[in-house]
Amino acid sequence: MGIQYNSETKTFHLKAKDTSYVLGILREGYLVHYYWGKGIGEYRHSNFLQFVDRGFSGNPYQQRDDRTFSLDTLPQEYPQYGNSDFRKPAYQVQLENGSTVSDLRYVSHAIFQGKTPLEGLPATYVEEVEEAETLEITMEDSLIGLKVILSYTIFEQFNAITRSVRFVNEGLHSVKLLSALSLSVDFRDADFDFLHLHGAHVKERHIERKPLRHGIQSVESTRGGSSHQHNPFIALPRKGTAEESGEVYGFNFVYSGNFLAQAEVDQFSNTRVTMGINPFDFSWKLDVGESFQAPEVVMVYSSEGLGDMSRTYHELYRTRLVRGAYRDRERPILVNNWEATYFNFNEEKILEIAKAGSELGIELFVLDDGWFGKRDDDRSSLGDWFVDHKKLPNGLGSLASNVKEMELEFGLWFEPEMISVDSDLYREHPDWCLHVPGRSRSESRNQLVLDFSREDVCVEITKRVCDILASAPISYVKWDMNRHLTEIGSSLLPADRQRETAHRYMLGLYKVMENITSSFPDVLFESCSGGGGRFDPGILYYMPQTWTSDNTDAVSRLKIQYGTSLVYPIVSMGAHVSAVPNHQVHRSTSMEMRGDVAMSGNLGYELDLTKLSNEEKEIVKQQVANYKEIRRLIQFGDFYRLKSPFEGNETAWLFTNKDKTEVMVYYFRVLAEPAAPFAFLKLNGIDVNKQYQVIGTNNVYGGDELVYAGLSIPLELHGDFQSHTWHLKEI
Ligand code: DGJ
Repeated sequence: MGIQYNSETKTFHLKAKDTSYVLGILREGYLVHYYWGKGIGEYRHSNFLQFVDRGFSGNPYQQRDDRTFSLDTLPQEYPQYGNSDFRKPAYQVQLENGSTVSDLRYVSHAIFQGKTPLEGLPATYVEEVEEAETLEITMEDSLIGLKVILSYTIFEQFNAITRSVRFVNEGLHSVKLLSALSLSVDFRDADFDFLHLHGAHVKERHIERKPLRHGIQSVESTRGGSSHQHNPFIALPRKGTAEESGEVYGFNFVYSGNFLAQAEVDQFSNTRVTMGINPFDFSWKLDVGESFQAPEVVMVYSSEGLGDMSRTYHELYRTRLVRGAYRDRERPILVNNWEATYFNFNEEKILEIAKAGSELGIELFVLDDGWFGKRDDDRSSLGDWFVDHKKLPNGLGSLASNVKEMELEFGLWFEPEMISVDSDLYREHPDWCLHVPGRSRSESRNQLVLDFSREDVCVEITKRVCDILASAPISYVKWDMNRHLTEIGSSLLPADRQRETAHRYMLGLYKVMENITSSFPDVLFESCSGGGGRFDPGILYYMPQTWTSDNTDAVSRLKIQYGTSLVYPIVSMGAHVSAVPNHQVHRSTSMEMRGDVAMSGNLGYELDLTKLSNEEKEIVKQQVANYKEIRRLIQFGDFYRLKSPFEGNETAWLFTNKDKTEVMVYYFRVLAEPAAPFAFLKLNGIDVNKQYQVIGTNNVYGGDELVYAGLSIPLELHGDFQSHTWHLKEI
C-alpha cells in the first residue's frame, strides 16, 4: 500500500491492496486519469495518452494553438463545464453574474497517513493511521477563488478507494453550486455491462445487468431517501465477468438521500462514471469563506468477479463503516409483534408473545408501531412519542422489565422523522413539516415529513426519543421511515437556499442519529424504511443493521437478499420468519424453508408465536438453537453466492469462516420440475486442500472434490418451495 508522487512526470500512483489507481497533472494544471485496475509495480505510462485533432472537440483557451488538446478527448479526474468538454461535468457552479462556466487547475497536493472524517457525514474510517493513506489534491478556479479539494483514500487491507470532494469559497463573492458530485472516473473504453439494483416497496434490490451503450445510463433517487426504487450502487463488470472471475468496478455512495449514479459512453467510446448528490432540484449557496462537503463514494475493484467485489464491500463495511458496541458482536434473535398484531395489541398480548418467544430460546422482543399517542391505525400520533396508557396501562418501564424477567431483551419501534396531521405535535407546530407556502401538503401513509433541516425540530425530536429510551430498559431500537419527501421546502430557509432543503434534511437526520446513537451506546439500532427503502452505507454508519424488506415471503426474499448481498454485509440484513399464507404475496412455504432463508441473515420471527402448533414450536426451537451455533459464521463469515435466483429456479449460497474450517451451505428450489436435470452444487469458496465432514453423516470429502465435482442435491426434496442445508467441518 502507498501513494507515490513522481514529480518529473507529475503522476500519482495510488496502491491499495492489489489495486493501482493512477492520475496525473497535465500541462496547465489539468488533472487526468491514467489507469485503475489490477496492481502495477511501477507505472511508466505504457498506455500514454494520445493527442489527436478530433473534429468538434474544441481547445481550451491557453491551448488554442494545439488543436490536438481538448478536454473533450481527455480522461479526466474531476471534469468541469463550459470549456471544451461536452460530456457531463462533475460539478457546476453559478456566479453572481449568472454565468455557469468554471475552470479548475491543480494548485497543490498533500499525502498523509490515515483518513480524515467528513464533518457531519457518514464515511468509512480507520482505527490506526497505518491502515490507510490519503491524497488531497487542491484545485482552483482562480477567477472566482473557488478551491476544490479532491480526496482519495486507499486501504492496506482492501481493494477499495474512497473519494470525496470539498468546495471552499475563498473568493470575494458568493457562488452557487448547481451540482457537486463526489466522483468522476473516465475509462478509456466501454467494454462493460451496467449493473444496478432496482426495486420497489416489498421488492427491493433486484439485480439488473445490461450492456453499456453509447449515451447515458443512470439510476437516481429524487425521493429524499436513497429509496427502494434504486440503490446508490452501480457496477461496471467486463462483459464476461461472472461470480468468481473477471474484472468489475463497483461504486457505492455513502449517502441516504437523493443521488445520481451514471455512466456516459461518449463518441469515442470512453466511459465516464459519475456519482453524487442528485443535481436535480439541488443547489447550494456558498457565501465567502464557506465550504461544502460532498459525501463519500466507495469504489471497489476486483479482477476476481462479482463475489470478490461483494466480499470486499462486506468486510470494509462490517469493520470500517459500521461503528459501536454491536459492530463485532453477535446479533440477538428477535421476535417482532408487527405481523402478529399490527396495531391491535395490549399489554397482555405482548407479554404472551414474549413468553412464547422466551420458551423457544428467542433473545429479544421488539414492540413495533402503535405503542404511543393514540395510534390505533396509521392515521395519527406520529411525533407524539409518549406511551399510550390505554394499551399499556403500566407504562413501558414495567412492560420492558416484565419482558426482561423472561430473559428477553426489550426493543422499541420509532419513526422519528414523521408527523401525523392528527397529532398534538402538528397542532402545536403546523410549520414543522416540509412544505411550500400556499401549496397543499401531500400525505403518504397519512403522514407528513418533519423538517429535519431545522435545528429546533431536530432538537425536540431527539429529546422525545431520548426521554423514552432513558425511561425504560430498552436494548434495541427499530428506526422506521415510511414515506418519501414531497413539497420539499423549509419555512426557515431564504428563497435562494430552498433547493438546499433536501440535503440539509439529510445533514439534520445524520446529526440526530449521531446524537441519539452516541447517547445510548449499548442499544442496538436497526434502521428501516418501509423495509429496505434506505438500505445504504450512509445509514449503516449510524445503525449496524437494516430491515431488509417488508416482504417476508421466503421465495421473494431469495432475490431480495441475494441482490442486497451484492454490496451489503450479511450481518446488516434483518430476516424474519413470518406466518403463512404470507401477508405480502399470500404464498405458503414450509417453516423449514422460511427458517433457512431467514437464517441466511440476522434471524428473527415476526408472527404470533402463541398460535404455533406444537410441531411448529419444535421446529422453531430447533432453528433458534441451530442459529445460535452457526450465527458467528453467518454474521461474520465470508459469503459466496453459488446459484442466482435471477437466473433460474434454484438459489444457493454458502458461508465460511476465515480459515475455511467450517462451512454452511444453503440450497433453495422454488418450484418442483418434471423431468428435472440432476442438480449439484460446486462449493466455491471452501479450501480445496482440506478434508470436510458433512455434519450429521459419516461422509467426508476433499475440498477439491466439492469445488470441482460438486455436491449432489438430494432427490428427496419433493414439491415446491424446498430448501436443504449442509454443515461442513474440516477434519
Ligand atoms: C414499516 C416497517 O417496515 C414494518 O416492519 C413495520 O414496522 C411498519 N412500518 C410499522 O408501521
